[in-house]
Amino acid sequence: MKKVITYGTFDLFHEGHYKLLERAKALGDYLIVGVTTEHFDEARGKINVVDPIMERIEHVKKTGFADEIIVEDHEGQKIEDVQKYGVDIFVEGSDWEGHFDYMRAFCEVVYLERTPNISSTLKRKSRFRLVRIGIVGTGRIAPRFMSEAKYVSGVLIPCCYNPEKASGELFSKLHDVRAYSQSFEEFLDQVDAIYVASPHETHYGYAKQAILKKKHVLCEKPMTFTYKAAKELYDLAAENKVVLMEGIKAAYCLGFQQMINIAKSGRIGEIRDVEACFSRLVREDSRELNDGTYGGAFLEFGGYPLLPIFKLFGTEYDSISIDSILDKKGIDLYTKIQLRYPGGMATAKTGIGVKSEGQLVIAGTKGYILAPSPWWLTKHFDVRYEDPDIVEHYEPAFQGDGLRYEISEFINQINGTRGRTYKLTAEESIGMAKVVERFMKQRSEAKSGKHKGKAGSGKG
Ligand code: CTP
Repeated sequence: MKKVITYGTFDLFHEGHYKLLERAKALGDYLIVGVTTEHFDEARGKINVVDPIMERIEHVKKTGFADEIIVEDHEGQKIEDVQKYGVDIFVEGSDWEGHFDYMRAFCEVVYLERTPNISSTLKRKSRFRLVRIGIVGTGRIAPRFMSEAKYVSGVLIPCCYNPEKASGELFSKLHDVRAYSQSFEEFLDQVDAIYVASPHETHYGYAKQAILKKKHVLCEKPMTFTYKAAKELYDLAAENKVVLMEGIKAAYCLGFQQMINIAKSGRIGEIRDVEACFSRLVREDSRELNDGTYGGAFLEFGGYPLLPIFKLFGTEYDSISIDSILDKKGIDLYTKIQLRYPGGMATAKTGIGVKSEGQLVIAGTKGYILAPSPWWLTKHFDVRYEDPDIVEHYEPAFQGDGLRYEISEFINQINGTRGRTYKLTAEESIGMAKVVERFMKQRSEAKSGKHKGKAGSGKG
C-alpha cells in the first residue's frame, strides 16, 4: 500500500484545498492529512486563522479523500510522522517548492501545482471588510504600530490625526499613510477604528468621541484616570456595539496567557503571592520625567505589573497601599503598590528613576513561577519547586515586538472571529483605572504636603 501524507491549516476551506487533497490521494492508496493547531499556527506567525481546528478537520473529512486525519502541533513533527506511519510520498503545494526538500531523506517529496487565484488569505479579505484604522497621535509609539500592523491581515491604515500639523505631516510621509488630519471629526469619518497613542491625558476624550461615532477603539494605557471614566467608556462601547480594548501588550502575548493558565491550573498549588516589577530608566528631558501631572513611573508602566496580579487574584482586593519616591517636581521615580487579598498578597513595582530586576514571581503552596525580564513579553519562564533540580522551562512563541498579537486580537474582536474576549477584560481594565485614580489622588496630596512624599494606604 502506497501511503501519502500532506499538511495544511485548511482555514476557510476552499477549492485550492479540495484540489490538492484530490491529487494527493490519487498519488497513492492511503492519504494522511495533518491539520495544524491554532497554537502551532500562531507560533509560526499565522495569527489570523478564522475556523477552529474541529471545523477545519470536519471540512477535510467531508472531502472524502482523507483516510486518516492527524493533528500537527509542533516543529519537526513531519519527520516523526513520515517514519511513524511508514509514509512513501510527502505532498505540499507548489508555494512550498524547495522548502521541504529535507524530507527526501525519508520519503519521496512531491510539490503539486497550486490552484491559482484562491487562498485562505484572499477569502479572509473578501469575507471581512478591511478594517480602516486611524492613528491618533504620531509620537513615539505610533511607528511601532505601523511596522507591526503589517503582519496582521485585514488592516488598512488610511490616515492619522495630530493637532500639530508638522508632526502629523511628517508621520504620514515617513510611514506612507495616505492622509493626515488636524480635525478629529474629519479624521473619524475616514476610519472604522482608531488606535489612540496620544498623550495620556487625551486618551479618554478621543476614545469617547470615537465610540459615540461607533468606531472601535484600541487605546494605549492608561486609558483613563478614574474608575468612573473607564466604566463609562466600556458601557458606551457596549451600547454602541463597538470593540474597546486597552493596549496592555502583555495581555495579548501568547506566552503570557499560557503562564497565567499554568499558574491557575494548580501546578504550583494555591497562589499566595505575586510580585511583578517593570522599570525603565528614561532620559532627563523625557516627558515621563518632566510632566508633573501625567508623567512618572506608575502612569507609564503600572498596567504591566497590575495585569498578572488581577489575572491571578482578581480586581477585588481587601486593601491597597501605595508608596512612591517622588522627585522635586512631585513625579514618582519609583512606585510600589501592595495589595492584600483574602488568600494572598501582591506587589507591583514600577520605576523610571530607579532600576530594579524586571521579573515576575508567582509563589504558590507547592512551587513558584519565575519569569525573568522581559516577562511582559513572556518569551520564557520556569516552573520551579522545593527541589531545585526540578525545573520546567517554557519558551513560548513570540515574534516582532509583540504588538502584532494585540492588533490581531483587536481585528478578530471586530470581525467576531475569536469568541469572547478574555485576554484583558473590561473588569480588569476598569480595576486598573481604579488603582490609577487612587494613585493620582495620593500623589497630588503628597505633592501638596498632606502625605509628605509618601502615598497612603487603605481599603480597596
Ligand atoms: N493550496 C493549493 N492551492 C491554493 C491554496 C492552497 O494547492 N490555492 C495548498 C497549499 O499549497 C497547501 C495546502 O493547500 O499544500 C494547505 O494550504 P493552506 O496553507 O492551509 O492554505 P492557503 O490558502 O495557502 O492559506 P493561507 O492563505 O492562509 O496561507
